[in-house]
Amino acid sequence: MKNEFVKICRVSDVYNRKGKSFRLDDENEIALFKVNDVIYAVDNVCPHNHTPQIYDGYIEDMYVACPMHGFRFHLETGEQPTKAGCRLRTFEVMISGDEVYVKKPHKKRFDFHF
Ligand code: FES
Repeated sequence: MKNEFVKICRVSDVYNRKGKSFRLDDENEIALFKVNDVIYAVDNVCPHNHTPQIYDGYIEDMYVACPMHGFRFHLETGEQPTKAGCRLRTFEVMISGDEVYVKKPHKKRFDFHF
């Protein structure tokens, strides 16, 4: 089980409401956010125009707004407020001591809902 998770950084490396990007593996770049002291991991590549800048997004409530065109995605579910259209991938986070681990995905890169 633990080998499905990749050690990303220390808990203290992630600041409240400020994103940071990391490589999860060869295929996946993720953005970590801390909101209300909980760390969330999402795809750093926006599903709208495939821009790798989600880490620089603005946090409002539980949503991150992509800095390119402002699409908003829920940090837990990756869904937009309307629950329609493209969805941002989310990843399971595990904290062990002061270290943040993120689970490698099994699914394809993008997940669309129509
Ligand atoms: S690239 Fe993210 S909203 Fe367009």
